Amino acid sequence: MKNILDCLNWRYAVKKFNSNKKVSNENLEKILQGFTLTASSFNLQPWWIVVVENQELKDKLFEYSYYQEQIKDCSHLLVLCRKTDLSEKLVDDLIDSLVEKSGMKKNNFESYENMMRWFLSRLDDNRKISWAEKQVYIALGNLLDVCACLEIDSCPMEWFDKQKYDEILNLQEKWLSSVLVLPIGYRAEDDKYATIPKHRYDLDDLVIKM
Ligand SMILES: Cc1cc2nc3c(=O)[nH]c(=O)nc-3n(C[C@H](O)[C@H](O)[C@H](O)COP(=O)(O)O)c2cc1C
Repeated sequence: MKNILDCLNWRYAVKKFNSNKKVSNENLEKILQGFTLTASSFNLQPWWIVVVENQELKDKLFEYSYYQEQIKDCSHLLVLCRKTDLSEKLVDDLIDSLVEKSGMKKNNFESYENMMRWFLSRLDDNRKISWAEKQVYIALGNLLDVCACLEIDSCPMEWFDKQKYDEILNLQEKWLSSVLVLPIGYRAEDDKYATIPKHRYDLDDLVIKM
């Protein structure tokens, strides 16, 4: 197993991708499997991921990403979305899937189900959206690390026009809304950001041990 700190030090937010170098299907599959393994509150997984490889589509989205070049030069653009239906359907779907995959009876999940329904019932619409978006940010963090482990470059991005993305990718009709994007691929040899030393606060400035 690779040293996790080496992987995390190797990665950086790539500003210039080598547009000729593509992520293999095998590695893309690993990244997507890694995405599905992200932890979420109650395991409700209120997310989807849209994989954009089509160059025309990437060029169009580039315009609505404040012309950040990573969008058009990356190998694949991952658009991380939250579900728009944050009703108790989230619970219904999860329980159905658990019953199907585990082969166990629905009543085995009764207290878990009730707890989730109670949790959701306490949130108004805005707090539900905020909760779902937080889960998507966890997926982003996980994907950054999965990519780094595979030595695949990426750039986490929240600076894009979400409304336009939703329109262009027809997300609304899929009951989705974009939250974050993650272009993945391989760094260009002359990406000057690759050599900038990583700045982080020291442990003493970040950690309180009690
Ligand atoms: C949630 C989030 C949103 C970000 N949005 C952008 C963005 O829109 N464009 C960009 O070039 N970098 C973006 N970044 C990259 C950060 O600037 C970068 O991760 C940070 O400076 C730390 O540097 P490092 O990732 O190279 O270690 C974003 C990072 C995160 C975590």
